[in-house]
Amino acid sequence: MDFKEIISNLILNAIDIEISKDEIKEFIEIPKEDNNGDYAFPCFKLAKIFRQAPNLIADNLKSKINIDNTIISKIESVSGYLNFFIDKSQIVKKALEKFDVQKEDYGKMQIGEGKRVLVEYSSPNIAKPFHIGHLKTTIIGNALYNIYKNCGYETISLNHLGDYGTQFAKLIEGYKRWGAEYDLSTNAIDKLSEIYKRINELCEQDKSVLEECRETFKKLENGDKYCIDLWNKFKELSLREFNRIYELLKVKFDSYNGEAFYSDKMQEVIDILEKNGVLTESQGAKVVDLTDKGIKTPCIIQKANGSSIYATRDLAAILYRARTYDFDKCIYVVGEEQNLHFKQIFEVAKCLDLDEKYTKGLVHVSYGMIILPEGRMSTRKGNFVKVEDLLNEAISKAREIIADRSIENKEQVAKQVGIGAVIFDDLKESRIKNQVFDLNEAVNFNGETGPYVQYMTVRTKSVLEKAGYTPDINDVKFDVLTDELSIKLIKLIENFDQIIVNSMDKNEPSIIARYSIDVAKAYSIFYNQNKIISDDKQLTNARLYLTYMTKITLENSLKLLGIEVPDKM
Ligand code: ARG
Repeated sequence: MDFKEIISNLILNAIDIEISKDEIKEFIEIPKEDNNGDYAFPCFKLAKIFRQAPNLIADNLKSKINIDNTIISKIESVSGYLNFFIDKSQIVKKALEKFDVQKEDYGKMQIGEGKRVLVEYSSPNIAKPFHIGHLKTTIIGNALYNIYKNCGYETISLNHLGDYGTQFAKLIEGYKRWGAEYDLSTNAIDKLSEIYKRINELCEQDKSVLEECRETFKKLENGDKYCIDLWNKFKELSLREFNRIYELLKVKFDSYNGEAFYSDKMQEVIDILEKNGVLTESQGAKVVDLTDKGIKTPCIIQKANGSSIYATRDLAAILYRARTYDFDKCIYVVGEEQNLHFKQIFEVAKCLDLDEKYTKGLVHVSYGMIILPEGRMSTRKGNFVKVEDLLNEAISKAREIIADRSIENKEQVAKQVGIGAVIFDDLKESRIKNQVFDLNEAVNFNGETGPYVQYMTVRTKSVLEKAGYTPDINDVKFDVLTDELSIKLIKLIENFDQIIVNSMDKNEPSIIARYSIDVAKAYSIFYNQNKIISDDKQLTNARLYLTYMTKITLENSLKLLGIEVPDKM
Protein backbone atom coordinates (compact mmCIF):
# COMPACT_ATOMS: atom_id res chain seq x y z
CA MET A 1 0.00 0.00 0.00
CA ASP A 2 1.63 3.15 -1.23
CA PHE A 3 0.17 6.32 0.28
CA LYS A 4 1.51 8.50 -2.51
CA GLU A 5 -0.17 6.25 -5.03
CA ILE A 6 -3.50 6.53 -3.24
CA ILE A 7 -3.23 10.30 -3.02
CA SER A 8 -2.23 10.67 -6.67
CA ASN A 9 -5.27 8.62 -7.67
CA LEU A 10 -7.56 10.86 -5.65
CA ILE A 11 -6.08 13.99 -7.22
CA LEU A 12 -6.14 12.51 -10.70
CA ASN A 13 -9.83 11.70 -10.37
CA ALA A 14 -10.60 15.19 -9.16
CA ILE A 15 -9.02 17.09 -12.05
CA ASP A 16 -9.94 16.97 -15.69
CA ILE A 17 -6.77 18.21 -17.34
CA GLU A 18 -4.11 16.27 -19.22
CA ILE A 19 -1.66 15.21 -16.56
CA SER A 20 -0.25 11.82 -15.73
CA LYS A 21 -0.39 10.13 -12.38
CA ASP A 22 3.39 9.96 -12.34
CA GLU A 23 3.64 13.72 -12.72
CA ILE A 24 1.26 14.23 -9.83
CA LYS A 25 3.20 11.75 -7.76
CA GLU A 26 6.40 13.65 -8.37
CA PHE A 27 4.88 16.90 -7.13
CA ILE A 28 3.78 15.37 -3.83
CA GLU A 29 5.90 16.48 -0.90
CA ILE A 30 6.37 15.43 2.68
CA PRO A 31 5.70 18.52 4.84
CA LYS A 32 8.27 19.51 7.41
CA GLU A 33 5.68 20.43 10.02
CA ASP A 34 3.45 17.69 11.37
CA ASN A 35 0.41 19.95 11.46
CA ASN A 36 0.63 20.27 7.67
CA GLY A 37 -0.25 16.63 7.27
CA ASP A 38 1.70 13.61 6.15
CA TYR A 39 1.75 14.50 2.47
CA ALA A 40 1.15 17.73 0.63
CA PHE A 41 0.30 18.58 -2.94
CA PRO A 42 1.65 22.01 -3.98
CA CYS A 43 -1.07 23.44 -6.19
CA PHE A 44 1.12 26.19 -7.65
CA LYS A 45 2.52 23.43 -9.85
CA LEU A 46 -0.82 23.50 -11.66
CA ALA A 47 -1.33 27.27 -11.59
CA LYS A 48 -0.17 27.76 -15.19
CA ILE A 49 -2.41 25.07 -16.62
CA PHE A 50 -5.44 26.17 -14.62
CA ARG A 51 -4.73 29.88 -14.92
CA GLN A 52 -5.87 30.16 -11.37
CA ALA A 53 -4.33 31.11 -8.03
CA PRO A 54 -2.91 28.10 -6.14
CA ASN A 55 -5.15 28.61 -3.11
CA LEU A 56 -8.25 28.52 -5.33
CA ILE A 57 -7.04 25.36 -7.02
CA ALA A 58 -6.47 23.81 -3.60
CA ASP A 59 -9.96 24.80 -2.36
CA ASN A 60 -11.50 23.50 -5.54
CA LEU A 61 -9.68 20.16 -5.43
CA LYS A 62 -10.56 19.71 -1.79
CA SER A 63 -14.25 20.08 -2.52
CA LYS A 64 -14.03 17.54 -5.32
CA ILE A 65 -12.16 14.85 -3.42
CA ASN A 66 -14.25 12.74 -1.17
CA ILE A 67 -12.39 10.48 1.13
CA ASP A 68 -14.26 7.26 1.22
CA ASN A 69 -11.45 5.04 2.34
CA THR A 70 -10.06 4.39 5.77
CA ILE A 71 -6.54 5.39 4.87
CA ILE A 72 -6.84 9.14 4.59
CA SER A 73 -8.41 10.72 7.60
CA LYS A 74 -8.49 14.38 6.59
CA ILE A 75 -7.70 16.81 3.78
CA GLU A 76 -7.00 20.50 4.27
CA SER A 77 -6.43 23.36 1.89
CA VAL A 78 -3.78 25.69 3.30
CA SER A 79 -2.23 28.54 1.32
CA GLY A 80 -2.05 26.75 -1.98
CA TYR A 81 -1.24 23.39 -0.59
CA LEU A 82 -3.54 20.43 -0.33
CA ASN A 83 -2.54 18.65 2.85
CA PHE A 84 -3.35 15.00 3.35
CA PHE A 85 -3.52 13.38 6.77
CA ILE A 86 -3.08 9.63 6.83
CA ASP A 87 -4.87 7.60 9.43
CA LYS A 88 -2.25 7.05 12.11
CA SER A 89 -2.67 3.34 12.55
CA GLN A 90 -2.28 2.95 8.79
CA ILE A 91 1.08 4.69 9.04
CA VAL A 92 2.10 2.32 11.80
CA LYS A 93 0.87 -0.71 9.90
CA LYS A 94 2.71 0.24 6.73
CA ALA A 95 6.01 0.97 8.49
CA LEU A 96 5.95 -2.15 10.63
CA GLU A 97 5.01 -4.43 7.80
CA LYS A 98 7.72 -2.92 5.62
CA PHE A 99 10.26 -3.53 8.36
CA ASP A 100 9.03 -7.04 9.06
CA VAL A 101 9.77 -8.19 5.51
CA GLN A 102 13.48 -7.54 6.09
CA LYS A 103 14.04 -7.56 9.84
CA GLU A 104 17.83 -7.84 10.44
CA ASP A 105 18.41 -6.91 6.80
CA TYR A 106 16.34 -3.74 7.11
CA GLY A 107 17.74 -1.17 4.68
CA LYS A 108 19.34 -3.66 2.30
CA MET A 109 18.50 -3.04 -1.37
CA GLN A 110 19.13 -4.53 -4.76
CA ILE A 111 18.97 -1.35 -6.84
CA GLY A 112 22.59 -1.74 -7.92
CA GLU A 113 22.35 -5.33 -9.03
CA GLY A 114 24.53 -6.10 -12.02
CA LYS A 115 26.48 -2.86 -11.67
CA ARG A 116 30.03 -2.44 -10.49
CA VAL A 117 31.42 0.45 -8.47
CA LEU A 118 35.08 1.07 -7.74
CA VAL A 119 35.82 3.12 -4.65
CA GLU A 120 39.35 4.46 -4.42
CA TYR A 121 40.31 5.78 -1.01
CA SER A 122 43.07 6.19 1.56
CA SER A 123 45.95 6.11 -0.96
CA PRO A 124 48.75 7.24 1.38
CA ASN A 125 52.32 7.79 0.21
CA ILE A 126 55.05 5.25 0.86
CA ALA A 127 57.75 6.36 3.31
CA LYS A 128 55.70 9.40 4.27
CA PRO A 129 53.42 9.88 7.27
CA PHE A 130 49.80 8.81 7.08
CA HIS A 131 48.18 12.13 7.99
CA ILE A 132 44.70 13.15 9.14
CA GLY A 133 43.68 13.88 5.55
CA HIS A 134 44.40 10.24 4.75
CA LEU A 135 42.36 9.26 7.77
CA LYS A 136 39.42 11.20 6.40
CA THR A 137 39.52 9.63 2.92
CA THR A 138 39.85 6.21 4.53
CA ILE A 139 36.77 6.76 6.68
CA ILE A 140 34.60 8.38 3.99
CA GLY A 141 35.71 5.84 1.39
CA ASN A 142 34.97 2.88 3.61
CA ALA A 143 31.50 4.24 4.38
CA LEU A 144 30.78 4.74 0.67
CA TYR A 145 32.04 1.24 -0.02
CA ASN A 146 29.59 -0.13 2.57
CA ILE A 147 26.71 2.00 1.29
CA TYR A 148 27.08 0.93 -2.35
CA LYS A 149 27.47 -2.67 -1.32
CA ASN A 150 24.36 -2.43 0.80
CA CYS A 151 22.46 -1.25 -2.26
CA GLY A 152 23.41 -4.31 -4.28
CA TYR A 153 26.35 -2.95 -6.27
CA GLU A 154 29.36 -5.11 -6.76
CA THR A 155 31.86 -2.97 -4.94
CA ILE A 156 35.64 -3.00 -5.20
CA SER A 157 37.96 -1.02 -2.92
CA LEU A 158 41.20 0.38 -4.30
CA ASN A 159 44.18 1.84 -2.49
CA HIS A 160 46.12 3.90 -5.02
CA LEU A 161 49.39 4.00 -3.11
CA GLY A 162 51.80 6.85 -3.75
CA ASP A 163 54.77 4.61 -4.42
CA TYR A 164 56.38 6.17 -7.45
CA GLY A 165 58.67 9.08 -8.09
CA THR A 166 62.17 10.43 -7.92
CA GLN A 167 61.94 10.66 -4.13
CA PHE A 168 62.34 6.88 -3.96
CA ALA A 169 65.61 7.10 -5.83
CA LYS A 170 66.74 9.71 -3.32
CA LEU A 171 65.68 7.46 -0.49
CA ILE A 172 67.67 4.59 -1.98
CA GLU A 173 70.74 6.84 -2.21
CA GLY A 174 70.24 7.97 1.37
CA TYR A 175 69.74 4.45 2.60
CA LYS A 176 72.91 3.37 0.86
CA ARG A 177 74.81 5.99 2.82
CA TRP A 178 73.19 5.91 6.26
CA GLY A 179 70.83 2.94 6.34
CA ALA A 180 72.94 1.12 8.91
CA GLU A 181 72.42 3.95 11.40
CA TYR A 182 68.69 3.32 11.62
CA ASP A 183 66.73 0.48 13.15
CA LEU A 184 63.81 0.24 10.78
CA SER A 185 61.97 -2.39 12.78
CA THR A 186 60.07 0.33 14.64
CA ASN A 187 58.72 3.69 13.47
CA ALA A 188 60.11 3.04 10.02
CA ILE A 189 58.29 5.93 8.37
CA ASP A 190 59.78 8.47 10.77
CA LYS A 191 63.23 7.14 10.10
CA LEU A 192 62.77 6.98 6.34
CA SER A 193 61.52 10.57 6.43
CA GLU A 194 64.67 11.55 8.26
CA ILE A 195 66.87 9.78 5.72
CA TYR A 196 64.95 11.56 2.99
CA LYS A 197 65.51 14.91 4.64
CA ARG A 198 69.23 14.24 4.98
CA ILE A 199 69.73 13.18 1.38
CA ASN A 200 67.78 16.20 0.16
CA GLU A 201 70.09 18.48 2.11
CA LEU A 202 73.08 16.70 0.69
CA CYS A 203 71.71 17.03 -2.84
CA GLU A 204 71.44 20.77 -2.34
CA GLN A 205 75.05 21.05 -1.21
CA ASP A 206 76.48 18.64 -3.72
CA LYS A 207 75.08 18.54 -7.23
CA SER A 208 76.93 15.33 -8.04
CA VAL A 209 74.78 13.53 -5.45
CA LEU A 210 71.68 14.86 -7.17
CA GLU A 211 73.09 13.46 -10.39
CA GLU A 212 73.58 10.09 -8.72
CA CYS A 213 69.96 10.16 -7.57
CA ARG A 214 68.87 10.77 -11.16
CA GLU A 215 70.88 7.79 -12.31
CA THR A 216 69.38 5.68 -9.55
CA PHE A 217 65.90 6.70 -10.62
CA LYS A 218 66.64 5.44 -14.12
CA LYS A 219 67.88 2.18 -12.62
CA LEU A 220 64.74 1.90 -10.54
CA GLU A 221 62.60 2.45 -13.61
CA ASN A 222 64.54 -0.16 -15.54
CA GLY A 223 64.01 -2.75 -12.84
CA ASP A 224 67.50 -2.91 -11.33
CA LYS A 225 67.33 -5.61 -8.66
CA TYR A 226 69.09 -3.76 -5.86
CA CYS A 227 66.87 -0.71 -6.33
CA ILE A 228 63.66 -2.69 -6.68
CA ASP A 229 64.45 -4.72 -3.57
CA LEU A 230 64.99 -1.58 -1.52
CA TRP A 231 61.89 0.05 -2.93
CA ASN A 232 59.92 -3.07 -1.97
CA LYS A 233 61.40 -2.92 1.49
CA PHE A 234 60.31 0.71 1.95
CA LYS A 235 56.89 -0.20 0.70
CA GLU A 236 56.59 -3.17 3.02
CA LEU A 237 57.73 -1.21 6.06
CA SER A 238 55.28 1.58 5.29
CA LEU A 239 52.40 -0.80 4.67
CA ARG A 240 53.10 -2.44 7.98
CA GLU A 241 52.41 0.90 9.66
CA PHE A 242 49.41 1.70 7.47
CA ASN A 243 47.97 -1.74 8.16
CA ARG A 244 47.97 -1.08 11.88
CA ILE A 245 45.68 1.88 11.22
CA TYR A 246 43.53 -0.15 8.81
CA GLU A 247 43.17 -2.87 11.42
CA LEU A 248 42.04 -0.39 14.06
CA LEU A 249 39.50 1.02 11.61
CA LYS A 250 38.58 -2.44 10.28
CA VAL A 251 39.13 -1.31 6.71
CA LYS A 252 40.17 -3.64 3.90
CA PHE A 253 41.22 -3.18 0.30
CA ASP A 254 40.77 -5.41 -2.71
CA SER A 255 43.74 -3.88 -4.50
CA TYR A 256 46.86 -1.97 -3.52
CA ASN A 257 47.93 -1.18 -7.06
CA GLY A 258 49.60 2.16 -6.65
CA GLU A 259 51.18 4.68 -8.94
CA ALA A 260 54.17 2.46 -9.68
CA PHE A 261 51.86 -0.22 -11.04
CA TYR A 262 50.94 2.16 -13.84
CA SER A 263 54.45 3.31 -14.67
CA ASP A 264 54.77 0.91 -17.60
CA LYS A 265 51.25 1.72 -18.80
CA MET A 266 51.76 5.43 -19.44
CA GLN A 267 53.19 5.30 -22.94
CA GLU A 268 49.83 4.19 -24.27
CA VAL A 269 48.21 7.27 -22.78
CA ILE A 270 50.72 9.50 -24.53
CA ASP A 271 50.29 7.59 -27.80
CA ILE A 272 46.51 7.89 -27.80
CA LEU A 273 46.59 11.58 -26.92
CA GLU A 274 49.21 12.13 -29.62
CA LYS A 275 47.15 10.24 -32.18
CA ASN A 276 44.06 12.25 -31.29
CA GLY A 277 46.00 15.46 -31.75
CA VAL A 278 45.35 16.87 -28.32
CA LEU A 279 48.93 17.08 -27.11
CA THR A 280 50.68 20.41 -27.52
CA GLU A 281 54.16 21.60 -26.63
CA SER A 282 54.57 24.13 -23.89
CA GLN A 283 58.09 25.09 -22.83
CA GLY A 284 59.30 21.66 -23.85
CA ALA A 285 56.57 19.84 -21.95
CA LYS A 286 53.70 17.92 -23.50
CA VAL A 287 50.38 19.24 -22.30
CA VAL A 288 46.67 19.10 -23.04
CA ASP A 289 45.19 22.53 -23.29
CA LEU A 290 41.80 22.66 -21.57
CA THR A 291 40.89 26.34 -21.91
CA ASP A 292 37.91 25.59 -24.13
CA LYS A 293 36.66 23.28 -21.39
CA GLY A 294 36.74 26.14 -18.91
CA ILE A 295 39.95 24.97 -17.21
CA LYS A 296 42.68 27.57 -17.41
CA THR A 297 45.60 25.39 -16.32
CA PRO A 298 46.73 22.91 -18.96
CA CYS A 299 47.14 19.28 -17.91
CA ILE A 300 50.82 18.34 -18.09
CA ILE A 301 51.31 14.83 -19.46
CA GLN A 302 55.06 14.74 -19.85
CA LYS A 303 57.61 17.11 -18.37
CA ALA A 304 60.30 18.80 -20.45
CA ASN A 305 62.90 16.29 -19.22
CA GLY A 306 60.75 13.45 -20.54
CA SER A 307 59.53 12.18 -17.19
CA SER A 308 55.92 11.40 -16.52
CA ILE A 309 53.82 12.88 -13.78
CA TYR A 310 51.07 12.07 -11.31
CA ALA A 311 48.33 12.90 -13.83
CA THR A 312 49.74 10.58 -16.48
CA ARG A 313 49.65 7.68 -14.05
CA ASP A 314 46.08 8.53 -13.12
CA LEU A 315 45.12 8.49 -16.79
CA ALA A 316 46.81 5.12 -17.25
CA ALA A 317 44.87 3.92 -14.22
CA ILE A 318 41.58 5.00 -15.80
CA LEU A 319 42.38 2.99 -18.94
CA TYR A 320 43.38 0.00 -16.86
CA ARG A 321 40.36 0.16 -14.58
CA ALA A 322 37.93 0.48 -17.46
CA ARG A 323 39.40 -2.60 -19.12
CA THR A 324 39.98 -4.69 -16.03
CA TYR A 325 36.87 -3.92 -14.06
CA ASP A 326 34.44 -2.64 -16.70
CA PHE A 327 33.19 -0.24 -14.02
CA ASP A 328 29.91 1.63 -13.99
CA LYS A 329 31.26 4.14 -11.52
CA CYS A 330 34.77 4.91 -10.32
CA ILE A 331 34.81 7.07 -7.22
CA TYR A 332 37.90 8.93 -6.00
CA VAL A 333 37.77 10.02 -2.37
CA VAL A 334 40.47 12.69 -2.31
CA GLY A 335 40.71 16.06 -0.52
CA GLU A 336 39.63 19.34 -2.07
CA GLU A 337 43.22 20.46 -2.69
CA GLN A 338 43.17 18.09 -5.66
CA ASN A 339 39.96 19.44 -7.22
CA LEU A 340 41.81 20.89 -10.19
CA HIS A 341 43.76 17.69 -10.75
CA PHE A 342 40.60 15.62 -11.02
CA LYS A 343 38.83 18.17 -13.21
CA GLN A 344 41.81 18.00 -15.55
CA ILE A 345 42.22 14.25 -15.74
CA PHE A 346 38.47 13.61 -16.11
CA GLU A 347 38.49 16.02 -19.04
CA VAL A 348 41.60 14.49 -20.62
CA ALA A 349 40.14 11.00 -20.09
CA LYS A 350 37.49 11.92 -22.67
CA CYS A 351 40.30 11.96 -25.25
CA LEU A 352 41.42 8.39 -24.54
CA ASP A 353 38.95 6.70 -26.92
CA LEU A 354 37.05 5.23 -23.99
CA ASP A 355 33.38 4.41 -24.10
CA GLU A 356 31.31 7.25 -22.62
CA LYS A 357 30.09 4.83 -19.99
CA TYR A 358 33.49 5.06 -18.33
CA THR A 359 34.21 8.76 -18.60
CA LYS A 360 30.72 9.54 -17.30
CA GLY A 361 31.30 7.18 -14.39
CA LEU A 362 34.31 9.06 -13.00
CA VAL A 363 33.47 10.90 -9.79
CA HIS A 364 35.69 12.95 -7.51
CA VAL A 365 34.33 12.84 -3.97
CA SER A 366 36.06 15.79 -2.41
CA TYR A 367 36.27 16.81 1.23
CA GLY A 368 37.32 19.83 3.25
CA MET A 369 40.20 20.45 5.59
CA ILE A 370 40.60 19.03 9.05
CA ILE A 371 41.46 21.62 11.65
CA LEU A 372 42.98 20.52 14.92
CA PRO A 373 42.65 22.64 18.03
CA GLU A 374 45.81 24.18 19.42
CA GLY A 375 47.86 22.18 21.84
CA ARG A 376 49.15 18.69 21.73
CA MET A 377 47.32 17.82 18.57
CA SER A 378 48.27 20.92 16.64
CA THR A 379 50.00 20.64 13.32
CA ARG A 380 52.91 22.97 13.64
CA LYS A 381 55.05 22.93 10.56
CA GLY A 382 56.78 19.61 10.24
CA ASN A 383 55.06 18.30 13.33
CA PHE A 384 52.29 16.14 11.95
CA VAL A 385 49.82 14.50 14.21
CA LYS A 386 50.36 10.80 13.96
CA VAL A 387 47.09 9.18 13.09
CA GLU A 388 47.93 6.06 15.03
CA ASP A 389 48.55 8.15 18.16
CA LEU A 390 45.31 9.97 17.64
CA LEU A 391 43.36 6.71 17.38
CA ASN A 392 45.06 5.32 20.46
CA GLU A 393 44.35 8.50 22.36
CA ALA A 394 40.67 8.19 21.44
CA ILE A 395 40.70 4.62 22.73
CA SER A 396 42.26 5.63 26.03
CA LYS A 397 39.73 8.45 26.45
CA ALA A 398 36.96 5.89 25.98
CA ARG A 399 38.73 3.55 28.39
CA GLU A 400 38.70 6.27 31.05
CA ILE A 401 35.00 6.93 30.59
CA ILE A 402 33.98 3.30 30.95
CA ALA A 403 36.48 2.51 33.70
CA ASP A 404 33.91 2.38 36.52
CA ARG A 405 31.20 0.62 34.59
CA SER A 406 30.42 -3.01 35.15
CA ILE A 407 31.05 -4.42 31.72
CA GLU A 408 33.04 -7.35 30.48
CA ASN A 409 35.83 -7.07 27.90
CA LYS A 410 36.40 -3.39 28.60
CA GLU A 411 39.35 -3.30 26.26
CA GLN A 412 37.26 -4.27 23.27
CA VAL A 413 34.54 -1.80 24.22
CA ALA A 414 37.10 1.00 24.62
CA LYS A 415 38.32 0.23 21.12
CA GLN A 416 34.85 0.15 19.63
CA VAL A 417 33.87 3.39 21.32
CA GLY A 418 37.13 5.28 20.75
CA ILE A 419 37.37 4.33 17.09
CA GLY A 420 33.63 4.79 16.62
CA ALA A 421 33.97 8.30 18.00
CA VAL A 422 36.67 9.26 15.51
CA ILE A 423 34.83 7.72 12.55
CA PHE A 424 31.55 9.40 13.45
CA ASP A 425 33.22 12.75 13.92
CA ASP A 426 34.75 12.50 10.44
CA LEU A 427 31.36 11.67 8.93
CA LYS A 428 28.82 13.75 10.76
CA GLU A 429 29.13 16.98 8.81
CA SER A 430 28.72 17.38 5.09
CA ARG A 431 32.09 16.29 3.74
CA ILE A 432 32.94 19.49 1.95
CA LYS A 433 32.79 21.50 5.18
CA ASN A 434 36.03 22.00 7.06
CA GLN A 435 36.06 19.79 10.13
CA VAL A 436 37.24 21.03 13.47
CA PHE A 437 38.40 17.90 15.18
CA ASP A 438 38.19 17.98 18.95
CA LEU A 439 38.87 14.61 20.48
CA ASN A 440 37.13 15.41 23.77
CA GLU A 441 33.99 16.40 21.95
CA ALA A 442 34.11 13.40 19.63
CA VAL A 443 34.24 10.95 22.53
CA ASN A 444 31.58 12.72 24.60
CA PHE A 445 28.72 10.30 25.29
CA ASN A 446 26.21 13.13 25.50
CA GLY A 447 26.83 15.11 22.35
CA GLU A 448 25.83 14.43 18.77
CA THR A 449 28.54 11.81 18.62
CA GLY A 450 29.28 8.24 17.70
CA PRO A 451 29.36 7.12 21.34
CA TYR A 452 25.93 8.69 21.86
CA VAL A 453 24.42 6.71 18.98
CA GLN A 454 26.26 3.58 20.11
CA TYR A 455 24.94 4.16 23.62
CA MET A 456 21.33 4.44 22.48
CA THR A 457 21.76 1.29 20.40
CA VAL A 458 23.07 -0.55 23.44
CA ARG A 459 20.09 0.80 25.38
CA THR A 460 17.65 -0.79 22.88
CA LYS A 461 19.55 -4.05 23.14
CA SER A 462 19.36 -4.12 26.91
CA VAL A 463 15.64 -3.27 26.91
CA LEU A 464 14.98 -6.22 24.61
CA GLU A 465 17.25 -8.51 26.60
CA LYS A 466 15.71 -7.58 29.91
CA ALA A 467 12.28 -8.38 28.50
CA GLY A 468 13.48 -11.64 27.01
CA TYR A 469 11.70 -10.47 23.88
CA THR A 470 11.23 -12.53 20.72
CA PRO A 471 9.84 -10.20 18.08
CA ASP A 472 6.62 -11.19 16.36
CA ILE A 473 4.65 -8.63 14.38
CA ASN A 474 1.48 -10.69 14.81
CA ASP A 475 1.46 -9.74 18.47
CA VAL A 476 1.48 -6.02 17.63
CA LYS A 477 -1.73 -4.00 17.63
CA PHE A 478 -0.97 -1.08 15.37
CA ASP A 479 -3.29 1.46 16.93
CA VAL A 480 -1.52 1.47 20.28
CA LEU A 481 1.47 3.12 18.63
CA THR A 482 -0.38 6.13 17.27
CA ASP A 483 0.76 8.66 19.87
CA GLU A 484 2.96 11.52 18.74
CA LEU A 485 6.30 10.19 20.00
CA SER A 486 5.82 6.69 18.62
CA ILE A 487 4.68 8.03 15.27
CA LYS A 488 7.68 10.32 15.05
CA LEU A 489 10.06 7.41 15.60
CA ILE A 490 8.13 5.12 13.28
CA LYS A 491 8.10 7.65 10.46
CA LEU A 492 11.86 8.12 10.81
CA ILE A 493 12.50 4.39 10.69
CA GLU A 494 10.17 4.00 7.73
CA ASN A 495 12.34 6.44 5.81
CA PHE A 496 15.62 4.50 6.24
CA ASP A 497 15.84 3.25 2.65
CA GLN A 498 15.26 6.76 1.29
CA ILE A 499 18.01 8.08 3.53
CA ILE A 500 20.44 5.44 2.27
CA VAL A 501 19.63 6.10 -1.38
CA ASN A 502 19.93 9.82 -0.82
CA SER A 503 23.30 9.44 0.86
CA MET A 504 24.49 7.20 -1.96
CA ASP A 505 23.27 9.53 -4.71
CA LYS A 506 25.14 12.40 -3.10
CA ASN A 507 28.10 10.28 -1.97
CA GLU A 508 27.47 11.81 1.40
CA PRO A 509 27.71 9.47 4.41
CA SER A 510 26.85 12.41 6.69
CA ILE A 511 23.21 11.96 5.68
CA ILE A 512 23.21 8.57 7.39
CA ALA A 513 25.22 9.88 10.35
CA ARG A 514 22.74 12.73 10.94
CA TYR A 515 19.88 10.31 10.50
CA SER A 516 21.28 7.97 13.15
CA ILE A 517 21.37 10.89 15.58
CA ASP A 518 17.74 11.70 14.78
CA VAL A 519 16.67 8.11 15.36
CA ALA A 520 18.69 7.85 18.58
CA LYS A 521 17.18 11.10 19.88
CA ALA A 522 13.65 10.10 18.92
CA TYR A 523 14.08 6.80 20.72
CA SER A 524 15.57 8.49 23.75
CA ILE A 525 12.49 10.74 24.06
CA PHE A 526 10.14 7.83 23.40
CA TYR A 527 11.94 5.79 26.05
CA ASN A 528 11.96 8.54 28.64
CA GLN A 529 8.29 9.38 28.22
CA ASN A 530 6.94 5.85 28.00
CA LYS A 531 7.13 2.81 30.16
CA ILE A 532 8.20 0.16 27.69
CA ILE A 533 7.40 -2.80 29.87
CA SER A 534 4.12 -2.56 31.76
CA ASP A 535 1.17 -4.69 32.81
CA ASP A 536 -0.55 -3.82 29.57
CA LYS A 537 0.47 -6.78 27.41
CA GLN A 538 -0.63 -5.19 24.14
CA LEU A 539 1.21 -1.98 24.77
CA THR A 540 4.31 -3.81 25.94
CA ASN A 541 4.44 -5.96 22.82
CA ALA A 542 4.01 -2.98 20.54
CA ARG A 543 6.66 -0.90 22.29
CA LEU A 544 9.10 -3.76 22.35
CA TYR A 545 8.59 -4.31 18.66
CA LEU A 546 9.30 -0.63 18.04
CA THR A 547 12.40 -0.93 20.21
CA TYR A 548 13.47 -3.87 18.10
CA MET A 549 12.98 -1.83 14.91
CA THR A 550 15.03 0.99 16.41
CA LYS A 551 17.82 -1.37 17.39
CA ILE A 552 18.13 -2.80 13.88
CA THR A 553 17.91 0.62 12.23
CA LEU A 554 20.62 2.06 14.46
CA GLU A 555 22.85 -0.99 14.14
CA ASN A 556 22.54 -0.99 10.38
CA SER A 557 23.14 2.76 10.14
CA LEU A 558 26.33 2.46 12.16
CA LYS A 559 27.44 -0.58 10.21
CA LEU A 560 27.14 1.43 7.00
CA LEU A 561 29.36 4.10 8.50
CA GLY A 562 31.92 1.49 9.54
CA ILE A 563 31.19 1.69 13.27
CA GLU A 564 30.77 -1.28 15.57
CA VAL A 565 28.28 -1.49 18.41
CA PRO A 566 29.48 -2.85 21.77
CA ASP A 567 27.31 -5.32 23.66
CA LYS A 568 27.36 -3.05 26.69
CA MET A 569 28.86 0.33 27.40
N1 ARG B 1 48.70 9.72 -2.78
C1 ARG B 1 47.96 10.91 -2.94
C2 ARG B 1 48.12 11.82 -1.72
O1 ARG B 1 48.43 11.33 -0.66
C3 ARG B 1 46.50 10.68 -3.15
C4 ARG B 1 46.15 9.83 -4.35
C5 ARG B 1 44.77 10.08 -4.81
N2 ARG B 1 44.34 9.23 -5.87
C6 ARG B 1 44.59 9.37 -7.15
N3 ARG B 1 44.12 8.50 -7.97
N4 ARG B 1 45.26 10.41 -7.60
O2 ARG B 1 47.89 13.01 -1.80
